Amino acid sequence: MKRYLVTGGAGFIGSHLVEGLLNRGDSVTVIDDLSTGSWGNIASFESSENFRAIIASADERSLIEREVPKHDFVYHLASAVGVKLIIDRPVETVQRIVRTMDSLVDVCTRYRVPLLITSTSEVYGKSDCVPFSEDNDITIGATSKRRWAYASAKMLDEFLALAHYYQTSLPVFIVRLFNTVGPKQTGRYGMVVPRFISAAIKNEPLEIYGDGEQQRCFCSVFDVIDALLKFDSTPQAIGQVINLGSDEEISIRQLAERIISIIKSKSEIKFISYEEAYGPGFDDMRRRVPDLSKAKRILNWQPKTKLNEIIMQICNHIKGQM
Ligand SMILES: NC(=O)c1ccc[n+]([C@@H]2O[C@H](COP(=O)([O-])OP(=O)(O)OC[C@H]3O[C@@H](n4cnc5c(N)ncnc54)[C@H](O)[C@@H]3O)[C@@H](O)[C@H]2O)c1
Repeated sequence: MKRYLVTGGAGFIGSHLVEGLLNRGDSVTVIDDLSTGSWGNIASFESSENFRAIIASADERSLIEREVPKHDFVYHLASAVGVKLIIDRPVETVQRIVRTMDSLVDVCTRYRVPLLITSTSEVYGKSDCVPFSEDNDITIGATSKRRWAYASAKMLDEFLALAHYYQTSLPVFIVRLFNTVGPKQTGRYGMVVPRFISAAIKNEPLEIYGDGEQQRCFCSVFDVIDALLKFDSTPQAIGQVINLGSDEEISIRQLAERIISIIKSKSEIKFISYEEAYGPGFDDMRRRVPDLSKAKRILNWQPKTKLNEIIMQICNHIKGQM
C-alpha cells in the first residue's frame, strides 16, 4: 500500500483520482479548502480506513511541512479553476496557484517526495500550431487581458517544478490537461459541458459565448484518471511535460446541438458575445488540440471514451442529483 497526498482532492478531477487510488488499495490524504470543490465529492470515502481529509488551504506552510513527509507521492491539483472565476477574481487566481506550488515543491524537495502537478492546455496560449506539442514555443496574450493570468501562473508552476528537478533531481511530473469532463464537474465557474447539459435537461436555452465556431476536444475524466494513476510507476515520465486529453475536435455550436439531440431537449441555442459573458477585452482561441504522441509513447495511454457516452454519463449524474 502506498500513501498519497492529493491537494484539491475534493474537486472534480481530484475526487475521481482519490476514488481510483482507494480502489487500488492505496491510502489517501486529501487537503482541500473547498473553495471550488465540495465535501459531497468525497463524503462517500469517509467510511474507508485508508482515507483522511484535511479541510484547509494547501498554502499553509506548517500543514504542508507536517503532511508531506508522511506520504510517498504528492498529486498537486489544488488551483483556482474556470474562466469565469479567473476573470472575476484575478488576484486570488495568481496568488492561490503560485503560493501553493511554491510551498509544496520546497517541502517535497526537502523530504524527497515525488510531485505530480496538473498544468493546463491554457499554457499554449494563442498558438495556432495545432496539434500542440509539449516542446512548442508559447505565445501568451497581453497581461491586460485577465484570462492569461491563469496560464502564466500555471506556466510558472511548471518552471518551478522543472527547476527543482534540474537542481536537486526531485522526481517531478508535469501533466498538461486539456478539457476534462465527466460526472461531478460543476458549471458554476464557466465549464461549458455541465453548463449546457444542465440547461438542456431543464429545456432552458444553451448559451454559446462567441460565434460557436471555436473548436475544443473533451476527454473523459475516467480516461484521465487511468493516465494519472500510471505516473508513479513510470520513471521515464520523471522531469517530463505530458499532454493528456482527447484529440477528437468538435465546435461549441456542434456540442450544443449534440447535447440537445442526445437528451431530446426542447432547448434553443442562444449566442452571447464574449464581452457580455466576460467583460471587455476577452481573448479566445479557435482550436486547441493536443499532440498525444508523448502520452502514448511514455505512458502507453490514449483516450477511449467517446463524447456521446461522456454526455450520457454526465446527464445521468446531474439527473440523479435533481
Ligand atoms: N477540468 C479541466 O478541464 C482542467 C483542464 C486543465 C487543467 N486542470 C487542472 O486540474 C486541476 C483540477 O481541476 P478541476 O477541474 O478538478 O477543478 P476543481 O475546481 O473541481 O478542483 C480544484 C480543487 O482545488 C481546491 N483548491 C483550490 N485552491 C486550493 C488551495 N489553496 N488549497 C486547497 N485546496 C484548494 C478546490 O476547492 C477544488 O476542490 C487543477 O489544477 C486545474 O488547473 C483542469
